[in-house]
This record gives sequence, structure tokens and C-alpha cells, in this order.
Amino acid sequence: MLRRPRRNRKTAAIRSMVEENKLSTSDFMYPMFLLEGKSKSIEVESMPGIHRLSIDLMLKEIEACLNLGIRSFDIFPVVDEKHKDKLATQSHNPDFFYLKALEEIKNKFPEACIMTDVAMDPYSTDGHDGVVDEDGSILNDESLEILGAMALAQAETGIDIIGPSDMMDGRVEYIRDILDDNGYEDTSIMSYTAKYASAFYGPFRDALDSAPKSGDKKTYQMNPANLREAIIEAELDEEEGADFLMVKPALAYLDVIKLLRDNFDLPITAYNVSGEYAMIKAAAQKGWLDNDATMMEALLSMKRAGAKVILTYFAKEAAQLMK
Ligand code: PBG
Repeated sequence: MLRRPRRNRKTAAIRSMVEENKLSTSDFMYPMFLLEGKSKSIEVESMPGIHRLSIDLMLKEIEACLNLGIRSFDIFPVVDEKHKDKLATQSHNPDFFYLKALEEIKNKFPEACIMTDVAMDPYSTDGHDGVVDEDGSILNDESLEILGAMALAQAETGIDIIGPSDMMDGRVEYIRDILDDNGYEDTSIMSYTAKYASAFYGPFRDALDSAPKSGDKKTYQMNPANLREAIIEAELDEEEGADFLMVKPALAYLDVIKLLRDNFDLPITAYNVSGEYAMIKAAAQKGWLDNDATMMEALLSMKRAGAKVILTYFAKEAAQLMK
């Protein structure tokens, strides 16, 4: 036998020398849920270990994460029902607690990379990412105006990256133009390029209480059956000025990550979504899976598939383990 692949696996030193992919804490972006008020920490039932935090506690949590080497954060607002309306008005009210908190975070940690989410669902009584017409359809171009105002209000807080997650057509260019016209040409856009109409977002919608009140998101989010269509979305986002291309969810869509990695030169982001986190946590709690090993293997698979950036609720836990 001339070829024995096991020779390259025989010791830990050799295995690490021939290792093709390695996770680093600088790959991670940590999604966090912001509550209005003070001294509040409420665990998300379907996401053990993940807490919705008020700004005072979130600042502490960000500091702890920075000390672990996590430098990027994606902040989502938990919006009380009383602040919601059909047109997501609070999403671009500069006095709204979310925008105030973003300013506070950037002032306290200018070195941290902060991303925000652009979509109407957390602020909308309909729970949809765009404007809902009387007949229940989602209006594309009418939604762009609101998404543009939302993105500009977020950019004005000094955050680093705008993350349009709404899947309306033309939104990247629309937002890019508004940012540039207002002097925010340095604010980046991480587009949710291939965002699928997935059942894996359930726990996130629990966390924000943002599930659609009627219908589903299938007329704007992609069909899980489709791969080639991701190329169309990626070409558009690249032309429209996106700085990063995201695939979401991650684990069930590793082929999509690989496809975009092979065909585009922009950095690819994998969003390891709430349901993917919940699956591992639930199995680990039952003693059916080893939490740490499964978590690291799942994250590594995203990197191997071609993701440079990994948005994951495991960020802090993984960083602690890697230390
Ligand atoms: C908002 C948004 C969603 C997620 C990120 N941004 C939910 C959705 O589109 O329904 C899901 C994230 C996760 O499940 O972790 N549009």
C-alpha cells in the first residue's frame, strides 16, 4: 500500500499541521436582543442561555464578549406591542429606545463593530418585513421608503453595518443611495442575500414576538428548494453595492454558502439561526448530544463551506471554549 491517508492523522501535532480550516473569534458576529428599560434580563425559552437584555446589561455583556475576542455584534430590538403600527413608524424615530441604545453602545465601545437589522417585522402590527396591503400582499416599492428611512436612522447612530433582512427587491441599491446622499458612504451593507422562507426562525420570532399575524413570508423569502436562484440574488446585491453576502439559515444551506463562495469575491456570511441553535441545545439538555463538540463541529462546517463571517448565538460559548 503506497498511500495511507491515516499517516497524516497519526498525532495531534500532524493533525493540526494539515488542518485546512480553523475557527477564530474574529469570524464571529454575536446576535443580541435589546429590551426597553433598565436592569432587565429575560431568557428566551426556546433558546436556553440566550437572554433579552436592557441596555445597561447589554453594555456589560458586550464588554465581556470583547474580552473574549468577539468584536462584532448584531443588535435586534424587542418592541412592545404598544409601539407597533402598520408602517413601523418607530423604526425611524430617532428618540426610540433602540436607536438611543445603539448610540450609547457605539459611544462606549467605538472599537466594536455593530450591525443593525433592516426589516419592518419587529415594529409592525402585521409582523411582516414589508408593508401589508388590504388584500394581504406585501408591497415592494412602498416598503423601500420605510426601509430606507430605517437604515438612515440606524446609520445616524454611528453603527458600522446595515443588515437588510427584508428581501424586498432593489433594497440594497435604494439603501446605498440614501446612505451616500446623506454622507454615510462609509456605512457598510451586509445583505441578507439568500434568505430562505425557513421554519428555523421560530425561536427568533419568540424572542422578538415578531411572528407574522397572518400568512407567511413565501412571497419575499426564497423557496428552500432553490439553489440557482441564490445566484440571481447575489448578482443583484453585488451590483447594488453590498459589501457582504449572507446565506440564511446556515446548516441546512451549506451548499448555498459553497455556491456563493465559488462564484463571488465578496465575503460570505453564514447566519446560524435561532432554530439551529435550539436544536443543539435541546438535544444537549436531554443528554443526546455533546453540546461543545456539536457546536464546534457545526460552526466549523460553515467555515469549511466557505463562510468568512459566522453570525451565531453560540459566539460567546464558542469563544470561551476556544480560549
Ligand atoms: C427579520 C429577521 C428574522 C431573522 C433575522 N432577521 C426573522 C424572519 O425573517 O422571520 C431570523 C434570525 C434567526 O432565526 O436567528 N426579518
